[in-house]
Amino acid sequence: MVAGKGVGFGKTILFGEHFVVYGLPAIASAISGHTLATVEGGKNGIEFVDKRPQVEGYKETKKGEIAREIDALVKYFKIDPAKTPLKITLAGNLVCASGVGASAALASSVARALNEHFCLKMNDEKINEAAYEAEAAGSGTPSGIDNTCSTYGGMISFQKGLKGGKNKITLLEVKKPLFIVMASSGITQETKGVVADVRAQREKEPQKYEKIFSEYTALFGKALEAVKKGNERKVGALMDKNMELLRQINVSCKEIEGIISAAKKGGALGAKLTGTGRGGLAICLAADKKGAEKIAAAVKKGGYEATVTQVGGKAK
Ligand code: MEV
Repeated sequence: MVAGKGVGFGKTILFGEHFVVYGLPAIASAISGHTLATVEGGKNGIEFVDKRPQVEGYKETKKGEIAREIDALVKYFKIDPAKTPLKITLAGNLVCASGVGASAALASSVARALNEHFCLKMNDEKINEAAYEAEAAGSGTPSGIDNTCSTYGGMISFQKGLKGGKNKITLLEVKKPLFIVMASSGITQETKGVVADVRAQREKEPQKYEKIFSEYTALFGKALEAVKKGNERKVGALMDKNMELLRQINVSCKEIEGIISAAKKGGALGAKLTGTGRGGLAICLAADKKGAEKIAAAVKKGGYEATVTQVGGKAK
């Protein structure tokens, strides 16, 4: 049997993390960093080799989550490891960190590799379904935005279908790419715990959350238009507003705030946490590549790792 190979993209959420869990729309983009999975015949059970680069401590902290994801995929593909031993190897250039979609990239790359290894001819929708199952086993009640980005690539708007309804996924056509700096707080967070915490807060203070959700909904409409038009100044200002709402639901932390203020000093048009929060990554928007390099330098001077990337357009 052939060795199956599969790719899963990393992602960044531009607007709407956490709110997306409650059926509000969000915007996310795949990034060029990706995970490559290889599946081949093994000797005994499931042998798992993880060669992915990581921020220090990521794999150790996420050990349980990673094991649950692999287990869920083995079950989804109805594999009996005693009869069909497999070796699953992960590699690629996506540096595993909270907020970059590393668990979703694992899920969709392994689903693709299993599909190829067993010659199943699954389409992207099925791959995405398998990846969602793995994400759910790994991290509780995901919205599905991460695995959708990892599976399809590109920039998308995503709205979770509540009560078993279908998710609304739209591939976005954008006029201009956005230059962003991805900066790492160095803290690995567990999505499951933070999502559960936000849910508990919302149950306690429903009116406060209703107000935040309606402010976010109004913001989203403007953000979608600005992203499509490539109006980076507007996008930046709206990212700042989105960050303010994320502060109100208590998912920021001192390191994220440190990155944001360093990025602002470096000329960022807007900056916010991306993904789970309380650690993980922040994204900082620049007007162009030169601006992004200046922001990255300012963030690094502040003591944080930073890389320049572009989303939503073709590289020039
Ligand atoms: C995590 O990348 C994004 C969250 O909104 C959770 C989810 O959508 O599943 C925090």
